[in-house]
Amino acid sequence: MPSEAGVPRRTVLTVLGAASLAGTFAAAVPAGAAELTGTSASATAADLPAAAAHWTFDEGAGTLAADSSANSRSATLQGAAGWDTGKVGTHSLSLTAGGNATASGPALDTSKAFSVGAWVNLAQLGGYQTAVSVDGKVVSSFYLGLRDDTGTFAFARLGSDATQSAAVAAAASAPAANTWTHLAGVSDPAAGVIRLYVNGVLEGETAYTAGWAGTGDTAIGRALYGGGHVDQWHGLIDDVWMFPSVLTSEQVAALAGVPVETTTPLLSVDVAHPAHAVSPVLPGLMFEDINHSGEGGIYAELVQNRSMMASDTTPVHWSAVGGTTLSLDTANPLNAALNRSLKVVLPSGTGAGNRAGVANDGFWGIPVRPRTTYTARLFAKASRRIGPLRVAIESADGATVYASAHVPHIGTAFPGRPFELTLRTGSRTPAVGDARLTVTTADPAAARETLWLQHVSLFPPTYNNRPNGLRVDLMDKLVALRPKFLRFPGGNFLEGNTIATRFNWKNTIGPVWERPGHMDDAWGYWSTDGLGLLEYLEWVEDMHAQPVLAVYAGYALKGDHVTGDALKPFVQDALDEIEYITGPVTSTWGARRAADGHPKPFPLEYVEIGNEDWFDSSGSYNERFAAFYDAIKAKYPHLKLIATTSVTSRTPDLIDEHYYLAPSAAQASTHKYDNRDRNSTKVFVGEWAAQEGRPTPDLNAALGDAAWLAGLIRNSDQVLMECYAPLFSHVKNNVWATNLIAYDNLTSYVSPSYWAQHMLTSRLGTTVLPATARALPGLATVATRAGNRLYLAVVNCGTEKVNVPVELKGLAKGVKRQATATILTGPSRTTTNTLTEPDTLVPRTSTVTGAAASFTSTVPPLSVTVLELVLT
Ligand code: AHR
Repeated sequence: MPSEAGVPRRTVLTVLGAASLAGTFAAAVPAGAAELTGTSASATAADLPAAAAHWTFDEGAGTLAADSSANSRSATLQGAAGWDTGKVGTHSLSLTAGGNATASGPALDTSKAFSVGAWVNLAQLGGYQTAVSVDGKVVSSFYLGLRDDTGTFAFARLGSDATQSAAVAAAASAPAANTWTHLAGVSDPAAGVIRLYVNGVLEGETAYTAGWAGTGDTAIGRALYGGGHVDQWHGLIDDVWMFPSVLTSEQVAALAGVPVETTTPLLSVDVAHPAHAVSPVLPGLMFEDINHSGEGGIYAELVQNRSMMASDTTPVHWSAVGGTTLSLDTANPLNAALNRSLKVVLPSGTGAGNRAGVANDGFWGIPVRPRTTYTARLFAKASRRIGPLRVAIESADGATVYASAHVPHIGTAFPGRPFELTLRTGSRTPAVGDARLTVTTADPAAARETLWLQHVSLFPPTYNNRPNGLRVDLMDKLVALRPKFLRFPGGNFLEGNTIATRFNWKNTIGPVWERPGHMDDAWGYWSTDGLGLLEYLEWVEDMHAQPVLAVYAGYALKGDHVTGDALKPFVQDALDEIEYITGPVTSTWGARRAADGHPKPFPLEYVEIGNEDWFDSSGSYNERFAAFYDAIKAKYPHLKLIATTSVTSRTPDLIDEHYYLAPSAAQASTHKYDNRDRNSTKVFVGEWAAQEGRPTPDLNAALGDAAWLAGLIRNSDQVLMECYAPLFSHVKNNVWATNLIAYDNLTSYVSPSYWAQHMLTSRLGTTVLPATARALPGLATVATRAGNRLYLAVVNCGTEKVNVPVELKGLAKGVKRQATATILTGPSRTTTNTLTEPDTLVPRTSTVTGAAASFTSTVPPLSVTVLELVLT
């Protein structure tokens, strides 16, 4: 982009022929403002409003720090507090050895507008360290300093004088140790926000309306929480000002001693010097059977309790048709796994005109569609040879038969394999979700006889036509996300409430009618384990992804845990499981996989040892992880092993961290990994979600998710893999509130969060470009590049549109004027998609023009925007 006299040309990014996006890209502003250059000058009193207090800390001796404002509120050095060289003037307050400086009473009324500024210099990063605060009775009425949860400087306030979560205006930049930094916090009740400025630049702004007055002391170098002194500052503090008014940006710049033009908004992207590669395995999926995600969800089986194992006492989901009597019969098992059957005593009136048998109500109804082929499989026998047996999909009242097929005769013993029938609906069949499956006979010879049924199954067409396969609409939605991996089978589902109800993979392979199933007691329903290990692997194969296999690690949710020799069988199970997945057909478990229908070994690179073992208060994970690690690494040294919490016994290849956050916390945490020690163990964020909305997230949560994900992408040299959780919820069984995708038995929809993730991971380059957002609080950004494509994602969590001046530094030549903008936005934070209105929030893509080395993009309120720019 040519410039005149060194001034970058103003450009306008406008939408080409897409009225729906009007206003998204608007008038340009000049960009390319000077870099921030630090200075040690202090603001002069002339620049600033009247102060409530001003401690220069220039005494350099004694225990008294004078207040140079008109209020003479001197502070007393406490504990190990002392003096050091000053940032402004000769001296500063040294709290390197501990202590603080306390002025009696509140220096100002924190229920009204106020501002506080200080130069700070941390001797050590980490934890909560408060530079300036005013005590309430239980908590401080504000906290200006470093926060542990965000890992950044922040200005925070609580809603009242009680412990609770805080409104946090967090910094966008990383804090540095042994460096002077100017912090300013502003509480602006008229605007309903609090702000944080770092070195004169507005870096954080968040809603806050609950101003209350702290009536206690004014503290420099500590805070109050839960009635006790906390947040010891380690380092130096200098030139603390307090004002009973809202400082303007210009006044804060003056206080920080920086030219105001270096504090204006700018998103600067360095095109020429990528920070690092985008992790090639970053976006994935996490699945466990929760909210009927598997049974009645993606596992396409339509019959609920097909194996009669869901209850020991009652044939739940089965009902009598035509006057039969139903019971569970352990004297007539199908096999050792399905060790009972459904006993159906047929009434004396069975015969022409009285069809008798059983009905199954499915998962909140059996779904029916026109022109559809269903496959039924069942085992049946009777006390004498009878027939035919009709299998029908019919309306709940039995008045309408949508499709049916017959078993001509059944004998007096269960056959070796199930009867298999094809049922087809016609072109005029309506799409209904409340049908039932019936198995009946009208054979007069069956009157007063007994019928036994087991494994009564009905499948619609499945994804890739896999027998015992997966629901097509849900798979389509997952495949569209192009996940790199699937983490399975849990989550709590892996662990079970007790060791007996863990995911015992050996019970989940082989013919489905030989799988006993187990109680999914973590989430409250029966799992047939029809969705077993091989089905998970084929699911992964169908998505062209790779498995992240979670192996059971000897801990159950209620606290049972196994150590020592007792752990050895579980370790062996994990080794066998890996062999089943990866072993040649000549190996024991590879041969078993081949016998199950998949001779080709599956690729496997990542194995996770357990799930959320920080819950194991016995502390046994250290030992358990070591046992699994040693055995797996000995046999499979190439496998990368994931720990579920920090361990000291071995060094895991990755650590799985889970984050379920409020949307505001997710938004504020976009910088969580920015300041991480780049040499520490890499991270797998194996579960995360901003939680708001039921059964799926609303727009506010989606914005939190997008801001959080932008941070993960930016830091994908540290966070190698990520997957949102939970993935699915049946709308009739929403036990976990906020999930990515929801459905009933007929239809499904995706949430705005799905779309936000789709946008950020499908418009993603191969390298992360350094992108510095200056004075753009509330925005989260990430820039990536692949060849001549530059993807710039901007998340605006605020309710005002924002003009974002963009500067592309280091362009080899230039950038095409035409670009593509994809935007997800909606009218309010609570706007969402539902089963009946699935497309309220969907991203829109349009062509825009005006892209240049410097341009301004106006991002709508409450929006996720991804610009795709073409480099020339
Ligand atoms: O995702 C829901 C649950 O959250 C998972 O089962 C568990 O790992 C976590 O606590």
